[in-house]
Amino acid sequence: MSALTDSPAWQALLDHHQEIKDVHMRDLFKKDRGRFERFSERSSGLLLDYSKNRITEKTMGLLGDLARSCGVEEARDRMFNGAHINTTEDRAVYHVALRNRSDRAMIVDGHDVMPEVRAVLEKMRHFCDDVREGRWRGVTGKRIRTIVNIGIGGSDLGVIMALQALRSYQSDDLTPRFISNVDSSHLVETLRGLDAETTLFIVSSKSFTTQETLLNATSARTWLIKKLGTDAVRHHFVAVSTNEEKVCDFGIDTDYMFPFWDWVGGRYSTWSAIGLAIALVLGMDKFEEMLEGAFAMDEHFRTSPIEHNIPIIMAMLGVWYANFFGWSTHAVLPYDQYLTRFPQYLQQVDMESNGKRVDLQGRPVDYQTGPIVFGHAGTNAQHSFFQLLHQGKWDVSMDFIGVANNHHPLRDHQTILLSNFLGQTKALMWGKTEKEVRAQLKKKGVSAERIDQLAPHMTFPGNKPTNSLVLPLITPFTIGQLLALYEHKIFVQGVVWNINSFDQWGVQLGKELARDLAPQITGEAPIMGNDCSTQGLLKYMKLLKKE
Ligand code: F6P
Repeated sequence: MSALTDSPAWQALLDHHQEIKDVHMRDLFKKDRGRFERFSERSSGLLLDYSKNRITEKTMGLLGDLARSCGVEEARDRMFNGAHINTTEDRAVYHVALRNRSDRAMIVDGHDVMPEVRAVLEKMRHFCDDVREGRWRGVTGKRIRTIVNIGIGGSDLGVIMALQALRSYQSDDLTPRFISNVDSSHLVETLRGLDAETTLFIVSSKSFTTQETLLNATSARTWLIKKLGTDAVRHHFVAVSTNEEKVCDFGIDTDYMFPFWDWVGGRYSTWSAIGLAIALVLGMDKFEEMLEGAFAMDEHFRTSPIEHNIPIIMAMLGVWYANFFGWSTHAVLPYDQYLTRFPQYLQQVDMESNGKRVDLQGRPVDYQTGPIVFGHAGTNAQHSFFQLLHQGKWDVSMDFIGVANNHHPLRDHQTILLSNFLGQTKALMWGKTEKEVRAQLKKKGVSAERIDQLAPHMTFPGNKPTNSLVLPLITPFTIGQLLALYEHKIFVQGVVWNINSFDQWGVQLGKELARDLAPQITGEAPIMGNDCSTQGLLKYMKLLKKE
């Protein structure tokens, strides 16, 4: 037994789970009209309603005890104090410094990083103003009209998600595009129809060694040179990276490299110069509003007691379902078309952070860690996988994200959208009993025989837990808040599970093997030394390959 599962706080929750597991939320709501007030929290306009969870006040007290006994508050303080909490890479985890909007020094290894953070923000501002106001031009003197971000994972997902979320703030003067997949189709389709003279490429890579990004950047450079000549590269390529040497080797002038630091994890880097495409397309003021929103959430997380701390509450509810109910999956369901990419972004932040199987001391853990995260925008998701959420055998915990106002108030679209948001969370919680189904069918004049046939199919068990997050409107500020909220939630869960949420060794092995296999595909190396499946696949692909 690990120290965690052996702890009194864990054991108390195990006992409490026996009391709660068969309780229906319907009955909890019937008994307690104050449930919403009791189980909701607000921070700078954002509301979390967590009353539709399988919890009582006792549950929340015990989850709070667990958080306290796992040292969540101390770990949070260590992160905000710049300690090397990413132990396997011996680094601080300091993305909070990137959005520190106060005068507070942010110290890593005895050194205040704020002057460098502010200097890079200033450099970004100058560059963005130059591009947006037409002082920075392409090699033939034309204004830049398209920004192509070349990056993958954390150097792509946050930027693409934020730009999609904030599309209503974008003018038609500058259009963003993205190349991430090493599949050449992504590059070719993205560059199709683009005017090289008005295109600016940002090569975004923390390490500047990522195979996909470097190959894509090299092919994009070839495309540009073919159209405009070698001299064009310095007018049409900039870089965002921590690796100055590699940026130089690639041929990008380091005056046009926007740096960040090893204490910023890739999946936590949207706040750094990795967000350059956001700043270019929306303007630096909007990018800084996003930082303000994240800072507001950082302050809430840093200073609120456990009982009123939104990221901690969400994290502990996740622990409740993962470790005590034994559920593996968590769905994120934004009811706003602008947030369509949010679940995909969150998949990396959550699953790359907490998809771990050994604890900080390297011992295998005897409890579940990070969940499988999936999701999609409502109402489309309702017509896709909601059937399983309502009546399937797998249990899934859920976050619904609702937005009170719409950028495009058109007829009754927003009313219908919000009524679906509310209707779904209500249906998931309440369900529909067989008795209710039978009464409804009888009222409609359905025959007794047919009622017997239909009733089991039309019954909903309910008791499906949902968090409801409500934002006033999608703005740079609220996007900043939302992202920071989930980052901190994931951090808290990592602390409880005693894992390192900030490394990602699991993505290495596949990369190494791919490097070894490439020469076997090209014929530079013989097809050998593989298991028979890999061997068979390689040979078949070779057979199918068109000369
Ligand atoms: O997927 C592994 C990973 O290292 C991510 O953590 C990171 O966001 C991504 O690759 C891209 O890395 P880089 O920014 O160094 O190109």
